[in-house]
Amino acid sequence: MLTLGIETSCDETSVALTDGKKVLSNAVTSSVHLHSRFGGVVPEIASRHHVEYINHVLSKALKASKAGLKDVRLVAVTKGPGLVGSLLVGIQEAKAISYALKVPIIGINHILAHLYSVFMDNGRKDLRFPFIGLVVSGGHTSIYLCKGVDTFRLLGQTQDDALGEAYDKVAKVLSLGYPGGPVVERRARLAKKKEKFFPKTYLGKGSLDFSFSGIKTAVLYYARGPKKVSSGAIKLSDQKINEIAFAFQESVLDVVVDKTIWACERSALGRIVVGGGVSANQMLRQKFFEAAEKRRIKMFFPPLKYCTDNAAMVAGYGEALFKKGKRSDLYFTADANLKI
Ligand code: KG4
Ligand code: ZN
Repeated sequence: MLTLGIETSCDETSVALTDGKKVLSNAVTSSVHLHSRFGGVVPEIASRHHVEYINHVLSKALKASKAGLKDVRLVAVTKGPGLVGSLLVGIQEAKAISYALKVPIIGINHILAHLYSVFMDNGRKDLRFPFIGLVVSGGHTSIYLCKGVDTFRLLGQTQDDALGEAYDKVAKVLSLGYPGGPVVERRARLAKKKEKFFPKTYLGKGSLDFSFSGIKTAVLYYARGPKKVSSGAIKLSDQKINEIAFAFQESVLDVVVDKTIWACERSALGRIVVGGGVSANQMLRQKFFEAAEKRRIKMFFPPLKYCTDNAAMVAGYGEALFKKGKRSDLYFTADANLKI
């Protein structure tokens, strides 16, 4: 059975085809270059870019899969959370295809699709429910107890900024551009002095919630020193930037790893799945593998190409839900704040 997946929740326009076993194609185009100079995603620019490119990306995905639209048996599309204008473009495209082909449609929760992305790697046959799931993206940082394809319980979440957002804001302070994650990670690796001079925020003993809004202020105050200059006027040597990037990563990643491990130990499940854009971070992976090994916990990460936003995870998760009897009607719409 061929499933067409569509993802337009933020700045990536993506269309994928899956056949129940593997990903046949996963076409992605991004408007990230248009947001770079603003230091964050501009919603109106993102949605206009989706309108312009969605049909082009669809053609690319179909061509790469060697399938035709007539072969599609299910359409899966992200219905939220995300930017409402962006979500609507994908949803309208999906509805039009579903209506024209007379095939079922299913609206997908983007966060859960991020967790499901780990199943898109054919190599991970040893992964099964239940497990502890951590989503670390530009909009979310949450820990879930994942009991089945359609049964998730929120255990803890950020009270303010998401982890990816903290990377993006720190990158802005350091004039490193947008998105901040990959460049901050690269600069941290280049640090000669590896000192941990930023505090870690745990929000009380045993709490599974997070707070990342303080760290960007700590980085800003550290970067500008005693002089009260605006962030645009901060001048730092390359090596100082590398050291700040390193110290920032140390302060946030340890907290994320510790809390997810606590959740796993409390539930005695022995398996942790990490998804979302920040799961591409090699330092995060290394810290998780080290902590998990000591406790005989198995770690699962998506392949790098499925860490950031993509439609393959949407199609894959859509297939799994459809097999459980789930589907939507043509009247559902975007839900920018969709919860689990
Ligand atoms: O999952 P995603 O593509 O979009 C959302 O659903 O938000 O995540 C994007 C976020 C951005 O904040 C970006 O800076 C971050 O993921 N990111 C990373 C890395 N690659 C992307 N953060 C840390 N290290 C990375 N290598
Ligand atoms: Zn995402």
